[in-house]
Amino acid sequence: MANSCARIESLEELDEVMTRPGDRLCEFVKTLESPLLILGAAGKMGPSLAVQVNRAAQEAGHKLEVVAASRFSDSKVQIWLRDRGIKTVSCDLLEREALTQLPDSPNVIHLVGMKFGTAQNPSLTWAVNTLVPTHVSERYPNSRIVALSTGNVYPMVSIDSGGSTEESSTTPVGEYANAAVARERLFEYHSRRSRTPMVLLRLNYAVDLRYGVLLEIAQAVWAEKPVDVTTGYFNCIWQGDANECVVRSLDLASSPPAVLNLTGSETLSVSEIARRIGRLMDRSVTLVGQEAQTALLSNASRLFQRLGTPATSLDRILEWTANWVMRGGSTYGKATHFQVRDGNF
Ligand SMILES: NC(=O)c1ccc[n+]([C@@H]2O[C@H](COP(=O)([O-])OP(=O)(O)OC[C@H]3O[C@@H](n4cnc5c(N)ncnc54)[C@H](OP(=O)(O)O)[C@@H]3O)[C@@H](O)[C@H]2O)c1
Repeated sequence: MANSCARIESLEELDEVMTRPGDRLCEFVKTLESPLLILGAAGKMGPSLAVQVNRAAQEAGHKLEVVAASRFSDSKVQIWLRDRGIKTVSCDLLEREALTQLPDSPNVIHLVGMKFGTAQNPSLTWAVNTLVPTHVSERYPNSRIVALSTGNVYPMVSIDSGGSTEESSTTPVGEYANAAVARERLFEYHSRRSRTPMVLLRLNYAVDLRYGVLLEIAQAVWAEKPVDVTTGYFNCIWQGDANECVVRSLDLASSPPAVLNLTGSETLSVSEIARRIGRLMDRSVTLVGQEAQTALLSNASRLFQRLGTPATSLDRILEWTANWVMRGGSTYGKATHFQVRDGNF
């Protein structure tokens, strides 16, 4: 049974669990023609997504070539993907010419984005989040495109609101979030102009054991550091489940684009999560700060209606995370900055 184990003991096991395809993905993958192209594939999500869909095709007995494109700033990621049967193309998608190296593809998954470093180089954030979508849309006018967006396109909402829906206004604070709105609008423009079927997925936040809000809370609890609850509420989804939804949402592509929030089903409280992790670690928890009455929250009901609910329970993710931190499991060493309230990344 998928994800039934309470502990993940090694990086190999984490990769195995993270890329294990569920039945719904194995069924869906049979409808895909080669190649499936994943752009911006070298980040936190792309490698596991590529391998998961490849495994799904193998389990379904369906021949599918998966092509992963990125600059591969870290060449180890490219090797990791190749070792697992993924074809890779190294290219900078800011260069329009570079897209000629890419194969034609009926299905494109767009993971390219820039968030962190915006404060130091805002013009690059705007370029990555607007020029690349334009280049990709112009290169693939007849393909289905699933483009990752972010829950940051919404302003903060009341903590008891149940989260922003897809109809909520996209009037956020800060350069990154506004560039993310622009990313959506550029895709929408091209979708309307060329009738390209697209899906825009507003994700917050994918969690891995090496990265994410739950890891950060668990690290603080384990180190007996105070947990700041000023930004007191959040949503999250197991990255393996998020990746499955990304691929399966190809089926929902339309012009103008379908827009879906992508996250877990609950509004989570930082203090409550810290206490639950504290119990799993047998650690007492110190909280600091005063909970603000607003937070960045999304409501993913529409996604659940169309694709079903995520397979991995919060209890299971908390067990995995607590155990991972207690045994000193490796991390990406990257902060989520989920506490940021002024939009400055
Ligand atoms: N992870 C989350 O929790 C989360 C939450 C909200 C939204 N999202 C969205 O989901 C998408 C995927 O998430 P992620 O966490 O995997 O993002 P990520 O770690 O930032 O990965 C995106 C990758 O895109 C590649 N890239 C950037 N500029 C490029 C260019 N000019 N040409 C080719 N490749 C380029 C980069 O790899 P190279 O340096 O190798 O090119 C980068 O690692 C992002 O766009 C993000 O906006 C993610």
